[in-house]
Amino acid sequence: MSSPDWELSRREFVAGGASLSAMASTPIFGTAQAADTPAPSAAPTRNVTMEANPMMTVTMDINGRSRSLTLDTRTSLLDALREHLQLTGTKKGCDHGHCGACTVLVNGIRINACLSLAVMHDGDRVTTVEGLGTPDALHPMQAAFLKHDGFQCGYCTPGQICSAVALLAEIEKGVPSHVTDDIAAPMKLTNLELRERMSGNICRCGAYSNIAEAITEVAGAKA
Ligand code: FES
Ligand code: FES
Repeated sequence: MSSPDWELSRREFVAGGASLSAMASTPIFGTAQAADTPAPSAAPTRNVTMEANPMMTVTMDINGRSRSLTLDTRTSLLDALREHLQLTGTKKGCDHGHCGACTVLVNGIRINACLSLAVMHDGDRVTTVEGLGTPDALHPMQAAFLKHDGFQCGYCTPGQICSAVALLAEIEKGVPSHVTDDIAAPMKLTNLELRERMSGNICRCGAYSNIAEAITEVAGAKA
């Protein structure tokens, strides 16, 4: 039961609300004071201009063919090959220099294409697995990998093959490795040298013994 003292009729309540609204909309300090009050400034606008990504043109000899690309300077050689030239034989495994799946030859020397910017290779000669041989005329290393089943899923294989080709060139030139005992002696492809020099190429399928057999056979044939 409500007390009559506190009871407001619907009409009184609505009338009271209207009075309060009128008070709220009346300037408390009058119009002069309101004119002196600076209008709240609009939110500060930051003069942000989205700078275009720096682009650069690079020309490389890729698998015997001159290719010019205008690239964002941050493009890795791996992405230039795969995304811009559709040379997808070179694989992206880790994109961090850990697995060797992206190994290509630059001027005959193997590198991890994921760790190198494409614009650093203006004028360079780049060889990918597509440039080593063709399906009808395989490179001896490609043929040996096939013969010895040097792969299972095949994802690491292009990198393994490029690495193996460069490895034999290193041995031929007498380039020492961390396990070379005598750098003055003629370089030989021992089992230890082979495993050390191929240690940057990871095979998750574990086809290592067959890969070693394939490389040894090609090295033997060369010898
Ligand atoms: S993708 Fe380059 S080292 Fe793994
Ligand atoms: S063959 Fe599968 S990762 Fe090497």
